[in-house]
Amino acid sequence: MLFEPINIAGIEIPNRFVRSATHEWMAQPDGTPTSRIGDLYEELARNEIGLIITGYAYVNPKGKSDHLQQGIYDDRCIEPYKEIISRVHEHGSKIVIQIVHGGRQTMITTDNPYVLAPSAVVDITKGIMPEEMTEKEVLETIEDFAQAVRRAKEAGFDGVQLHCAHGFLLSNFISPYTNRRKDRWGGSTEKRTQVVLDIISRARELVGYEYPILVKLNVTDGFKPGSHKHTLDAPENIEIAKILADNGVCAIEISGGIAEAGDELFRTNIDLPAKEAYYRDYAKMIKQQVNVPVILVGGIRSKQVMEMLLKESYADMISLCRPLICEPDLVTKLKKGESEITKCVSCNLCSDESGIKCNYKFSK
Ligand SMILES: Cc1cc2nc3c(=O)[nH]c(=O)nc-3n(C[C@H](O)[C@H](O)[C@H](O)COP(=O)(O)O)c2cc1C
Repeated sequence: MLFEPINIAGIEIPNRFVRSATHEWMAQPDGTPTSRIGDLYEELARNEIGLIITGYAYVNPKGKSDHLQQGIYDDRCIEPYKEIISRVHEHGSKIVIQIVHGGRQTMITTDNPYVLAPSAVVDITKGIMPEEMTEKEVLETIEDFAQAVRRAKEAGFDGVQLHCAHGFLLSNFISPYTNRRKDRWGGSTEKRTQVVLDIISRARELVGYEYPILVKLNVTDGFKPGSHKHTLDAPENIEIAKILADNGVCAIEISGGIAEAGDELFRTNIDLPAKEAYYRDYAKMIKQQVNVPVILVGGIRSKQVMEMLLKESYADMISLCRPLICEPDLVTKLKKGESEITKCVSCNLCSDESGIKCNYKFSK
């Protein structure tokens, strides 16, 4: 099954492997992509990654989260992506751009001293109190996302993925931990999801109803059960996934964790099959309730677990981040029977500001 094609909103993806969005620290300071990013994506495409999701790309410099992050905030960003996309397409893979606003995780600089968020809830890891967004700021940000979708289509991306995970702005809106608003974008589950629906409906005016819009969705903030009164977890996450699928989202990638909950998002010590695919139970619950493909990410390491996830209907696609930094040719090796499990030890040393790479060997 791993090598069977799948269709997402009319886009034929040659197999079930996804490169999960991965910030590379390889863009230009202005967010435009470099040939280094093109080389990396071409290598992944040559090695049979059916769907490549780019590193997170900011929709407005005021929502930039890190140095050398990709951006798609201006029409002049469109042209530089075209060559990269065609290099991926030459190998038969598809490519989707992940778009983001940093929200509570925006990088503070002298040009951009304010962190915007749905509500003024202090970030306990950094001690930063964000500013609550005004209605005007929310509406402008909806427009920023929609214009980024238009640019993605004009550049030739096969679709976009709205980053609704990991403590960035859209996940700040969805989670009751970070959204305490009392207006149309806060309160009930529907209202906390509304900002995403507003982005989709404005984007549809610009790109039509066929263009694939995917989401990466946090299914849990990752706090210990019972430790926080207001937090995102099951069963509310199923409702959120249903709302998104019913409103034109064509595939949902299941992830979880915000920085304040610890190392939830990039778990370490994944040394047993039982520790792999740590959001699999959430994915299965959601897959039973939505009629769009479910993509699962987080700690998937062995062919045995990948096959089990598809066979036992936990997910439709297998998404990998750290294993593909360690071994961009992992899928080729799995296909040829040259490998049964990644060499990635989930040490997280690949988060390298000089450009992502596996630094495990240097740690010994
Ligand atoms: C270096 C690095 C950069 C990442 N950048 C992004 C990103 O841009 N967008 C995103 O949604 N997730 C990002 N993630 C999270 C991964 O996509 C993935 O959800 C997480 O690493 C768990 O999957 P894995 O066990 O296969 O690594 C990043 C992870 C790492 C290690």
